[in-house]
Amino acid sequence: MKKRIALLPGDGVGPEVTNEAVKVLKKIAAKYNHEFIFTERLIGGAAIDEVGEPFPKETEELCISSDAILFGAIGDPKYDNNPAAKIRPEQGLLTMRKTLGLYANVRPIKTYEPLYHQSPLKIDRIKGVDFVIVRELIGGIYFGARGREEEGRTAFDTCIYTTDEIERVSTYAFELAKTRRRKLSIVDKANVLETSRLWREVTKKLAHDYPTIQVEYLFVDNAAMQIIKRPAEFDVILTENMFGDILSDEASVITGSIGMLPSASVGEKISLYEPIHGSFPKAAGKNIANPIGTILSAALMLEYSFQMKDEARAIQDAVYKTLERGFGTKDIATKHILGTREMGEKIASAL
Ligand code: IPM
Ligand code: MG
Repeated sequence: MKKRIALLPGDGVGPEVTNEAVKVLKKIAAKYNHEFIFTERLIGGAAIDEVGEPFPKETEELCISSDAILFGAIGDPKYDNNPAAKIRPEQGLLTMRKTLGLYANVRPIKTYEPLYHQSPLKIDRIKGVDFVIVRELIGGIYFGARGREEEGRTAFDTCIYTTDEIERVSTYAFELAKTRRRKLSIVDKANVLETSRLWREVTKKLAHDYPTIQVEYLFVDNAAMQIIKRPAEFDVILTENMFGDILSDEASVITGSIGMLPSASVGEKISLYEPIHGSFPKAAGKNIANPIGTILSAALMLEYSFQMKDEARAIQDAVYKTLERGFGTKDIATKHILGTREMGEKIASAL
């Protein structure tokens, strides 16, 4: 198969980790007789530096005309510490999500036996943890009206959801649960928020179409606790934008390193794949970042966007084999500590 992949390395360690995923994808292409065409464009702080905006038109056009997007990271500390900054790298990410209609953010949380000892949780809690967070990505408080009043002394952000937005991402989560252990945990704050009550209304109706899925509702504060207390019991967690942002960082800790975790941002026409770790500016250019999150994101791309299940599985197996042999970057290594590049090469050669 011939596929066009938009490559958006972005900021911080983004270029280093996407490089390794490309290495692995090229190996897959050679082995399974595919042709992957990579075209690179600017995004985030790198794009602001170069052309003055975080999601340039040229980047958008490439995304729209590609079969999938592989994305590194966005964010630069020079903007974080400047509340007056008018343009921020993160705006590039949010605009990209919105313009491309990436409505479902899928974050699989899975523990790996060779890394059990890395987790801050007790081993008996984390054995066999394998769940997926489905986070609504283009609605809620991230995109509602915001502003200042009373000469700047009052600020507001609005959380807003429509029935259609809730239904679209919920259908995705129900369908995903159907292919897994058929358990769906829906997280909200329906004891306080009107948007959460609408989520319950819509998801309860939808549940009638999925009689074999076991649905539970959790308030987000309780969910934050249960994810740590009984992570192995979750299968699919569905939640709104902000809660999903927070819970997915919390959940990433279970696996021992956020550097391991991939994600997919699914849209109706195109989907984007990225590691969840962010730009990690302190590690940029040092060849120490863990490329596994990006490599596993590439595997998700093959599976979700290109229906290449065997190829995706081959990457996952190669990662597992490499970990089992005791190789890892600084954040996870058991026996042999490797750099970003060397880790990517080890995984590619395990293929
Ligand atoms: C994420 C990030 C982003 C978010 C930031 C960088 C805007 O934390 O992808 O989880 O809040 O969605
Ligand atoms: Mg986040």
